[in-house]
Amino acid sequence: MADEAKKRVFSGIQPTGKITLGNYLGAIRNWLPLQQQYDCLFCVVDLHSLTVAQVPAELRKNTLDLVALYIACGIDPAKSNLFIQSHVHEHTELAWILDTVAYVGELNRMTQFKDKSRRHADNINMGLMNYPVLMASDILLYQTDLVPVGKDQVQHVELTRDLAERFNARYSDTFVVPQCLVSKAGSSIKSLQDPSAKMSKSDPNENAVITLSDDADAIRRKLRRAVTDSDSGPNCVRHGEDKAAVSNLLNIYTLCAGVSIDEAERKFEGKGYGVFKDAVADAVISVVQPIQAEQKRLLADKAYLECVLRQGAENATHIAQKTLSKVYRKVGLIPKIR
Ligand code: TRP
Repeated sequence: MADEAKKRVFSGIQPTGKITLGNYLGAIRNWLPLQQQYDCLFCVVDLHSLTVAQVPAELRKNTLDLVALYIACGIDPAKSNLFIQSHVHEHTELAWILDTVAYVGELNRMTQFKDKSRRHADNINMGLMNYPVLMASDILLYQTDLVPVGKDQVQHVELTRDLAERFNARYSDTFVVPQCLVSKAGSSIKSLQDPSAKMSKSDPNENAVITLSDDADAIRRKLRRAVTDSDSGPNCVRHGEDKAAVSNLLNIYTLCAGVSIDEAERKFEGKGYGVFKDAVADAVISVVQPIQAEQKRLLADKAYLECVLRQGAENATHIAQKTLSKVYRKVGLIPKIR
């Protein structure tokens, strides 16, 4: 049972498309140590996925794949709450209340909304604009203290803080005002084809992205094709501002092989890009393959996954109900007669 003195952590990933090596190194892997110290909730945010067109059968598959992947990566359901967002209906109910304190102007200014509106110009639905309010609801529903996210989500967490403070000011103290936890390690794994862009699952160029479902051959092929920098010579494998592409590969290597940048630079002194890229591939494969094997094993064990999801939703609902009834009371709604 949750220890009241522990700080609470909430984070989530959308079950859309393939989870990338960037998601793993930049997000999921950084969550693992948090489990020892905090009361953690890790969520598969399926409702958020609906803001862009989904094929229902694929969404269902991606959702279960991601649940299994969380566990395969080391999220321990005995320590953390692992659940699916749509299993706890309080998320959408609180989102409605938060909608009434969120301003159209501030949602309209969100970078990701503007970005996605550009990319999905034929489907700028209300959900897309409302996305950050649902995210705020995810976070505030659990009185979250810390939200581990990548840089691209900081603006959404700031909006969450604004909404919490605004609600608290209007209706008296109700929500914990959360803080971002932006980790440095791996938080900015870049595209293999363009080191100025983040490695993103929505990248149309599949050579740019390593996914956690790629097999060894695909990983090796993509790394061999990865762009490097224009210089070659004995010291071409080094970290540096002028070496964006190689620095990115070095980051991937050090995170997967568990060595420091210095050690890696020394190891590849006098070596060319070909040898280096193969070593990066070996390191990535050695990380990804055991995760894939474990994910496959878990997906075959339906009873276990169902048990995790039932328990996760139950625990989450317990906390969520408390917050939501407090909120309903504060805004002047009459409690349901029982
Ligand atoms: N918007 C986040 C992303 O795309 C996913 C997300 C939804 C989330 N709700 C959240 C992350 C709550 C942290 C906390 O990465």
